Amino acid sequence: MMRALCESLLLLLPMCGITSALSCNVAPEMLTQIDASNGQVFGVNVTGNIYTLYGTTWVQLPGALAHVTVGLGGVWGVDSKHNIFKLVGGNWRLVPGLLKQIDAGGSQLVVGVNMYDDIYCIPKSSAFSAHRSDLRWVHIAGKLKYYSCGLLGCWGVNSADEIYYRHSVTPDSCAGSRWEHVPGSLSMIEVGTEGNVYGVNRDGNIFCRGGITAANPIGTMWAPLSNDLREIKHVSYDLGQLWILTKEGKTLNCKG
Ligand SMILES: *[C@@H]1O[C@H](CO)[C@@H](O)[C@H](O)[C@H]1NC(C)=O
Repeated sequence: MMRALCESLLLLLPMCGITSALSCNVAPEMLTQIDASNGQVFGVNVTGNIYTLYGTTWVQLPGALAHVTVGLGGVWGVDSKHNIFKLVGGNWRLVPGLLKQIDAGGSQLVVGVNMYDDIYCIPKSSAFSAHRSDLRWVHIAGKLKYYSCGLLGCWGVNSADEIYYRHSVTPDSCAGSRWEHVPGSLSMIEVGTEGNVYGVNRDGNIFCRGGITAANPIGTMWAPLSNDLREIKHVSYDLGQLWILTKEGKTLNCKG
């Protein structure tokens, strides 16, 4: 029985982008939120300072944000007053609207949720327009506290830690069609560029979604990542690397 469980876990991890046992390094910056996508890494610390990884050095960016995101949709962030900013030419440009969490990992679209857990997105045409007035958020029915997209679709969690997948999201039709409830319980969820889905539950354990393919973007089951990784509050995956923030404030960079 135990052996069967271990073998199924080993089979699942490659589907989560991890092919061998994880080894982790502790990064010097104590970050409270991090997003890795498309080869880039951005994070913020508890006082709102913004960092990006350049080679092996964390470089501080101007400004102050509570949440930052990087992806095919660009680099965006929200501050502690829920104002939204987009990085344009090295400067944060104020964007209309108010959000508490934002994600640019989808196919050139941007999604986010506001302080009432209302859900919004902007399609590719609007996200990449040079004109501020062209930027229009599309409201999506439902309530989520965290919403994230990759090339194989968008995933969210609500205030009860229930998990939902959004069907038929495309760069031009970012609202998609309908929610599908996915069994499980997570308090945050991040979708990697290639479609890998990682999340953290209330107890601080990391899970990845196994069985995701283009034909079955919802996948088949949640696989616990590692028994050694506990007291986690945030995770982001990109190109074989996991960025993990612990409840005690450590930033871990793990490779499989
Ligand atoms: C956040 O970053 C700033 C700038 O590097 C630093 O002065 C501050 O001590 C950091 N805060 C924490 C809690 O690490």
